[in-house]
Amino acid sequence: MTEPMTDTGVAFESPDAVERALSGTGYLPDPALATAVFLAARLQRPLLLEGEAGVGKTSLAEALAQIKGSTLIRLQCYEGIDASQALYDWDFPRQVLHLRAVQALRTDTDTTPEEVAAVEDELYSERFLLARPVLAALRTPDAVLLIDEIDRADDEFEAFLLEVLADYAVTIPELGRVVAQQPPMVVITSNRTREVHDALKRRCLYHWLEHPTLVREVQILRRRLPGIDEQLAADVAGASARLRGAALLKPPGVAESLDWARALTAIGVTRLDERSGLATIGAALKYREDIEVVRASGALLTGSA
Ligand SMILES: Nc1ncnc2c1ncn2[C@@H]1O[C@H](COP(=O)(O)OP(=O)(O)OP(=O)(O)O)[C@@H](O)[C@H]1O
Ligand SMILES: [Mg+2]
Repeated sequence: MTEPMTDTGVAFESPDAVERALSGTGYLPDPALATAVFLAARLQRPLLLEGEAGVGKTSLAEALAQIKGSTLIRLQCYEGIDASQALYDWDFPRQVLHLRAVQALRTDTDTTPEEVAAVEDELYSERFLLARPVLAALRTPDAVLLIDEIDRADDEFEAFLLEVLADYAVTIPELGRVVAQQPPMVVITSNRTREVHDALKRRCLYHWLEHPTLVREVQILRRRLPGIDEQLAADVAGASARLRGAALLKPPGVAESLDWARALTAIGVTRLDERSGLATIGAALKYREDIEVVRASGALLTGSA
């Protein structure tokens, strides 16, 4: 179903409307997540999503961009990332080329101070500006900005983001202040390798994304893998749920369930039993220790004691 449009893009009327719109893209949220998205949109607050790997944090932002019909602007965080990678930078090689071109074209030798100043101004104009994701999101109407894996960045970077998110504006000394005409929808994700600071959390609406329930995961598998055997979808979702309860080093996320179902389909089985499960376990588990746990207890795969 198409949601009503306003002059500022898609307006969600209710959490149910969010759920319907997301489902339309193939992303099946639980009611709590749909409510969090609704509130983030309504209150124009960034949504801070934490959760285990592969529970659907990044793909939520992708689905939101799809609903809004805008491209997803993504900032992948990493250790050492700084404002020039997030906001803007000057295209130094092009600036140098431009200077050389100006020099080559000049035939006279005396240049007035005004001419020098004019060339310098040109160097710091829009033409040589490299807009990085945060600036691009401020300047794009109705954008969705994904700040992915904020926990990988360091404290200074968080403080910088906080400043930008406080008023959805930045100042570029050479060009002036850029204020978002319409604030982007911001989704920040964290895998919780470290705690995000309280100051940033205060700015955001927080949501802890759980693994899906068994019923929802079956729906996700069937939606993402059209044509998958119904029984196989139920088997895989059931086995993934049991594995998540088994204190493994790295329990499977939805991403792994999808891969596992694909692997089982590829070897032509329609039921997950101990044999087919072990043959394809590398799609679901990525640690030798975890695979040993499953070898020792085949019931984790089949559910029968
Ligand atoms: N609720 C859902 N509905 C439909 N597909 C989902 C859902 N949750 C997860 N998926 C699918 O599972 C896969 C993994 O999701 P995604 O990459 O968004 O997880 P993530 O939480 O960002 O993981 P990571 O922490 O590893 O970055 C994607 O293919 C995504 O489409
Ligand atoms: Mg992700």
